[in-house]
Amino acid sequence: MIGRSLDISPASLPAFPPGTVWLCGAGPGDPGHLTLYVVSALRQADVIVHDALVDPRVLDFAHPEAEIIFAGKRGGKPSIAQDEIGEMLITLARQNRRVLRLKGGDPFVFGRGGEEALVLAEAGVPFRVFPGITSGLGGLAMASIPATMRGVNQAVILATGHSADDHTRLDWAALGRLKLPLVLYMAVRTLPDIAAALVAGGMDADTPAAVIENATLPDERIMVSTLDRVAKDLERQAFGPPALVVIGEIVRLREELRLLALQAAREAV
Ligand SMILES: C[S@@+](CC[C@H](N)C(=O)[O-])C[C@H]1O[C@@H](n2cnc3c(N)ncnc32)[C@H](O)[C@@H]1O
Repeated sequence: MIGRSLDISPASLPAFPPGTVWLCGAGPGDPGHLTLYVVSALRQADVIVHDALVDPRVLDFAHPEAEIIFAGKRGGKPSIAQDEIGEMLITLARQNRRVLRLKGGDPFVFGRGGEEALVLAEAGVPFRVFPGITSGLGGLAMASIPATMRGVNQAVILATGHSADDHTRLDWAALGRLKLPLVLYMAVRTLPDIAAALVAGGMDADTPAAVIENATLPDERIMVSTLDRVAKDLERQAFGPPALVVIGEIVRLREELRLLALQAAREAV
């Protein structure tokens, strides 16, 4: 019977050794997207250091005696500095605790997980990384937008709209010339400039575009528009972070899939 052999006890999954840090991804939001590794980590951790994007329901899986530390941005107040987080993880691990560093989505996709892993490695703190479903793929799938589709696209670009410093700034016009679907993280504020540059680079102004706010969560909102209108529509409808912006023909499939699903549901009645 399905589920009979489902054992997510620490005995069937790796034991979380004291004095180590596990850097884990909590997926796009809905706890149903957690991996078994991460649920097991939540059950074993002595202390959990989490970001703002981790849904409170995810933390319900924590051991009742675990200490839970919020290390994200709240109410517009500045977040804890990245180096302070690194120091905190090192200190907690040196207290011989099982430290779960939990981030939204995947820690290695626009999550500064790479930086934290480096800090731990340099300090000689043993750590492991357990991936999560990144919002830019999981959020899309849950919104019925396939990231790739045979005959439509052979590549997809995941990009951040937030350029922390000049030397990593993207050449949006060059990306526009590629005419490949783009999934943009952290692009709410910069979308007007990005959309204009993509069009200037050669991407069709009427390319379909979607915005997914709070992907997979109960208050999820999805808006479909076109490249030349999406920034205005986003502002008009007051979409805000956390949101993903998807630009490309793959967005068209959402409407197609939804229509067919509706039809099938009607016929089934
Ligand atoms: C600092 S990045 C973290 C990305 C994360 N590591 C991941 O793999 O999804 C934060 C951005 O991810 C996107 N994001 C994360 N979770 C989201 C969600 N549930 N709905 C929409 N966008 C989300 C938004 O663009 C948000 O501004």
